[in-house]
Amino acid sequence: MSSGPLVRVAFPAPAPFGAGGPLAGVALLTIDRPEALNAVSFATIAELVSSLSVLDADPECRCVVLTGAGTRAFAAGADIRELAGQTPGSLRSGGAFERWDELRVIGLPIVAAVRGYALGGGCELAMACDLIVAGEDAQFGQPEIKLGVIPGAGGTQRLTRAIGKVRAMELILTGRSIGAREAAAAGLVNLVVPAEETLDRALELAGRIAAMPPLAVRAAKAMVNRVDETALTQGLADERQAFFDLFATEDQSEGMAAFTEKRTPTWRGR
Ligand code: HXC
Repeated sequence: MSSGPLVRVAFPAPAPFGAGGPLAGVALLTIDRPEALNAVSFATIAELVSSLSVLDADPECRCVVLTGAGTRAFAAGADIRELAGQTPGSLRSGGAFERWDELRVIGLPIVAAVRGYALGGGCELAMACDLIVAGEDAQFGQPEIKLGVIPGAGGTQRLTRAIGKVRAMELILTGRSIGAREAAAAGLVNLVVPAEETLDRALELAGRIAAMPPLAVRAAKAMVNRVDETALTQGLADERQAFFDLFATEDQSEGMAAFTEKRTPTWRGR
């Protein structure tokens, strides 16, 4: 067991492909338990959410990349050794699952950079992010059924929304995992890249998002997520409200003025 932090934070992140650096506005979080294939223990999710909350409150941070240490896994699941002795009562009172829920209040966009295994809680964690860059060696799946349980941190809901009911049903009922290409064809990931380029390509994507006006980025993320939480009528009303509210920002005036004046806008996040 490593005795240091379970989640390493680099902010700003290193530039992708060693192209100078650091990468302005992008934070890199790394789950650092390679000896356990980055299994997400209760302490790991707590530390991850607490690091994300700090970054979310930092106006300099515009986008986060989340990855796993080493080359073998993003995260091979929740920590099975820790789960093995739990009871319904201990799970209810332990508070760990509330930490998973807190991922949903993070306003910053999060890009998952996935190499190797993203299984069980690891797949759920990747799906709780906003975009997924998958290395060619990535494996996604919900194998909980083989342990006598089911996905417990959103897998039944998010996988079904991402790839549709019949595909999700097969993966969740059989525990079969899928490779990066099948995941891309099913709509689970944004892009598949050579394995060794995974982190750099995710950082590159995050850098592009970080260069966008931050208030509009947060509003856009919130509104896309509304789709899964509301009926269309309410979602459209919320989107209109967020759209109107952005017209009170300097970034909107600047963005539209820059277009007219044929120059690059400068985003101030206000
Ligand atoms: C704890 C884990 C782990 C996990 C791997 N390890 N996955 N420890 N929890 N989820 C540990 C192993 O015990 C081993 O430790 C080391 O990591 C390396 O793993 P190996 O099994 O030796 O590697 P390999 O043979 O290559 O097999 C890789 C693997 C296998 C196919 C990914 O490790 C595996 O099946 N892991 C479990 C996957 C899984 O069922 N995930 C879902 C968990 S339940 P030692 O000390 O022996 O070297 C879940 C519920 C979520 O996620 C609920 C919401 C939070």
